Amino acid sequence: MRLTDLVEFWEKEIKPRFREADIESKVSLSDGSVVKYVNLDNAATTIPFKSVIEKVLSNLCEYGSVHRGSGQHSKITTERYEHVRETIRKFVGASSDDYIIFTSNTTTAVHLAASLWAQRYGFILVSDTEHSSNLLPWAQHEHIKNNGRVVREYNINPDGTIDIEQVRQCFERAKNDDKDRTFAANSLKIKLLAVTGASNLTGYKPQIYELARLAHSYSAKIFVDACQLLQHEHLDMLPDDDPCHIDFIAFSGHKMYAPFGAGVLVGPKDFFDGRDLPSPFFGIDFHNLVYGSVYQLGGGNIPYIDSDGGVLRPKIERAHEPGTPNFTGAIAIEEAILQLQEIGIQHISRYEHSLVALALNGIKENSRIRLYLPKDSNEEYIFSTVIPFDIEGLPHKLVAEVLAQEYGIGVRAGSFCSYELIRKLKGITKEQDQQITKEILKGVTANIPGLVRASFGMINNLEDVNKFVSSVSEISNRGIEYYRQRYGLDEKTGEWRLK
Ligand SMILES: Cc1ncc(COP(=O)(O)O)c(C=O)c1O
Repeated sequence: MRLTDLVEFWEKEIKPRFREADIESKVSLSDGSVVKYVNLDNAATTIPFKSVIEKVLSNLCEYGSVHRGSGQHSKITTERYEHVRETIRKFVGASSDDYIIFTSNTTTAVHLAASLWAQRYGFILVSDTEHSSNLLPWAQHEHIKNNGRVVREYNINPDGTIDIEQVRQCFERAKNDDKDRTFAANSLKIKLLAVTGASNLTGYKPQIYELARLAHSYSAKIFVDACQLLQHEHLDMLPDDDPCHIDFIAFSGHKMYAPFGAGVLVGPKDFFDGRDLPSPFFGIDFHNLVYGSVYQLGGGNIPYIDSDGGVLRPKIERAHEPGTPNFTGAIAIEEAILQLQEIGIQHISRYEHSLVALALNGIKENSRIRLYLPKDSNEEYIFSTVIPFDIEGLPHKLVAEVLAQEYGIGVRAGSFCSYELIRKLKGITKEQDQQITKEILKGVTANIPGLVRASFGMINNLEDVNKFVSSVSEISNRGIEYYRQRYGLDEKTGEWRLK
């Protein structure tokens, strides 16, 4: 986009959709001055659309208990809550055979899916570099339900990209390993491929549709962690009979301008209802929990416990939403979707990419700045909305602290719950890793590898890009000695704080 178009898009399409208090928020710097806050931490969480706040507030006027009361307010609230499912269904291209289940965030959505997948035979396949939230829940539930069964992993390339051939080989190996098994319960086949839709660290987007085709060709399903994707790019689960159909997705409201504590899990009704499991109760609307159990039981998601203690569950979405639902979280997501659709995801994508391209152009020639983005065959950076970097001679946590204290720029420094990816990107050896582990066991976390991440969103503008570029360039021109005089290091945590 041309610079004038970027400014116009920001002024007309984006700025009016956020509260001035949020996008013009001021912060104090170390010298006592007050400046506009530049939020470059959008991959962590996002500020709400103005209309999201308004919608939440106005709906609270008629608020009542979802699914529970006979009063008008309860019925109105229930109807609105249920309506959100349909908005989400259309937004992600889910079919009428899918459930749209509300959770608290992506992590709890993965836990829910993982608990049910652990009841199925076979293995989960993940990359070795998934975000912890798309790795540990799978591993944990498999382990608990299947006597220490582990997940299978494939290695990604050192630059953080996925080699589809490697994934294919993994499926093939598992299929061959499984050949002589006579009992389904001992199956070594891969049942599910879980993959991120976009890396929170590099912004790299795996070819999810090709991976879906591959998984399906081995009779497996695919689960896409979409929480870094659908606020930036169009995501379509595609029709159920499409070979590239995405079977499951999960995402978080707080990463898509709706921070009211809700997340979403989408997947086939038959799976959630346990229709693919051996069950004498197949085909009826209620069944005993022994077959196709739900993840979390409690109030609200079962209709009856009989006098013998038999717990019955309905085959509906609610069975997977224990307790009183988060109505405000759900309608916040609905309103955020309406806003994203009104602006047009493709326009958002183009705008954000143009901003990031400008930011990269501003820093990529600086020999002191190292970028951790993959490159294409023309040696051009592959990027989306995230810039992972560090500056020669300056610890990443110091750089992040200086950006905040001296420029009012909020980024994040650390390993971003993607430890193996960080180790790959930074070339950490096994010996170094063992040393880091030893230190952590003694309470020293200072040497956990990390980088600085500037993550852009639609709330950023040209001014933010310019400020980021000039600040990072200025910091890179100053050596560590300059900053040592002003900041003190906590040797245990690696945090730097103003003296
Ligand atoms: C790729 C990815 N997956 C999962 C999560 C977990 O999301 P949440 O904290 O909303 O559960 C994050 C959070 O940053 C993420 O970046």
